[in-house]
Amino acid sequence: MSDQLIIFDTTLRDGEQSPGASMTKDEKLRIARQLERLKVDVIEAGFAAASHGDFEAVKAIADAIRDSTVCSLARANDRDIARAAEALKGAARSRIHTFIATSELHMEKKLRMTREQVLEQAIQAVRFARNLTDDIEFSPEDGYRSDPEFLARVVEAVIREGARTINIPDTVGYAIPELYGQFIKTLRERVPNSDQAIWSVHCHNDLGMAVANSLAGVKIGGARQVECTINGLGERAGNCSLEEVVMAVKTRRDYFGLDVRVDPSQIVAASRMVSQTTGFVIQPNKAVVGANAFAHASGIHQDGVLKARDTYEIMRAEDVGWSANKIVLGKLSGRNAFKQRLQELGVELASEAEINAAFVRFKDLADRKAEIFDEDIIALVMDESVTQDQEHYRLVALAQRSETGERPQAQVVFAAGETEYRTESDGNGPVDAVLKAIESKVGSGAEMLLYSVSAITSGSTESQGEVTVRLQHAGRVVNGVGADPDIVVASAKAYLSALNKLQSKTERVAAQG
Ligand code: KIV
Ligand code: ZN
Repeated sequence: MSDQLIIFDTTLRDGEQSPGASMTKDEKLRIARQLERLKVDVIEAGFAAASHGDFEAVKAIADAIRDSTVCSLARANDRDIARAAEALKGAARSRIHTFIATSELHMEKKLRMTREQVLEQAIQAVRFARNLTDDIEFSPEDGYRSDPEFLARVVEAVIREGARTINIPDTVGYAIPELYGQFIKTLRERVPNSDQAIWSVHCHNDLGMAVANSLAGVKIGGARQVECTINGLGERAGNCSLEEVVMAVKTRRDYFGLDVRVDPSQIVAASRMVSQTTGFVIQPNKAVVGANAFAHASGIHQDGVLKARDTYEIMRAEDVGWSANKIVLGKLSGRNAFKQRLQELGVELASEAEINAAFVRFKDLADRKAEIFDEDIIALVMDESVTQDQEHYRLVALAQRSETGERPQAQVVFAAGETEYRTESDGNGPVDAVLKAIESKVGSGAEMLLYSVSAITSGSTESQGEVTVRLQHAGRVVNGVGADPDIVVASAKAYLSALNKLQSKTERVAAQG
């Protein structure tokens, strides 16, 4: 058995299914480039048949990425598979990932199909895909809650049709590490042609065991591919976290005896980018990428680390990219330095006009903030790409007044296309006043589910504030993110960005519907 563990990243597909985490094509492309720098083996770029926007995003990623396999999800039907193949045409290496549910519950209640119908559809899907590509992955959805005997029949049949990777999802995060590992092991033993495929694990985190289950699938079950997402992004409690799995396998190579191609020094950059793009803030005590992951507050720990690092540290912060958090540009930096840094960060702005516009914003920021970090640049071009991509509403100016004992007042000017709107309101605080002023004009009727502020870089008050606003309206949940040294301005930008997302009419087919 190979001693190489394949890292399959599904941040842009399964991760994006998390309510509010939907991303634009440009945002996905930027993250895909970072995943390529991270050297993940496979990037699941999306679900091409879900919508026109999803198709375009998968296509853009397939056309741009050269060093990782690009994959699209497809339900087990000809139309989805043909759409996936079409979107992947430009890829250096491509994979079609097709799936159908195999648990009694899903077959009976969701698909309303018999076992024999599901088996036949799985066979037909892989046979059809085999004419379009030779890299096919098959997933029996809700595989872990499926009858092992039936599951073995399906898996044997699809391997015979040419599926090269067999992925066993714990779709609802029900598994326990030892049981999941045994499940994979027994299934592999039961399937006569199991050695003709690479086995893969895909675990959701509902009971907080996605990483442990995935690692058990590898160690006990013999899986050689792990499906995971940056920061564990994903629906409900999320997916298996890429950074945790990779660092567990690397740090405990003595136990796992496996190699991974991933370059860990790119982990923190990837984590930041995903968090800034989606507005899903990373908890400070999150393993590997949380702000406190390498902080030693207690005197005893600090003393130990100063004497010998490995007294309390099993990984080095710089190995996962923490030292990359450095001042990169400032007020005196020129356009060329800015452009080069954008390239190093994998940000591709479509035209010189876009670079110029981003540079103007950079200069404006540098006038107000002496030290500009990579995260500031990413936040700045994200604002820019929202403008290019889909922006309807744009902040022009705001003024607010708050004084002890007085009710805060705000005046806001924002634009929609060529039209400018002026509006004002009072509120419980300055942020409340600004958002109420905007809402009084827009009248979206959206419910605010979340408002959060964090410092983009250091914990210092000199950092830019990054605000996330989560809105819900007519069954849709969206996140808007805004950054500025002034958190009231950042809040207005975040609110307008969320309104813009609510207004973009992306109709999608649910991947697991
Ligand atoms: O969780 C799941 O079952 C999935 C499949 C589509 C692979 O995401
Ligand atoms: Zn999943």
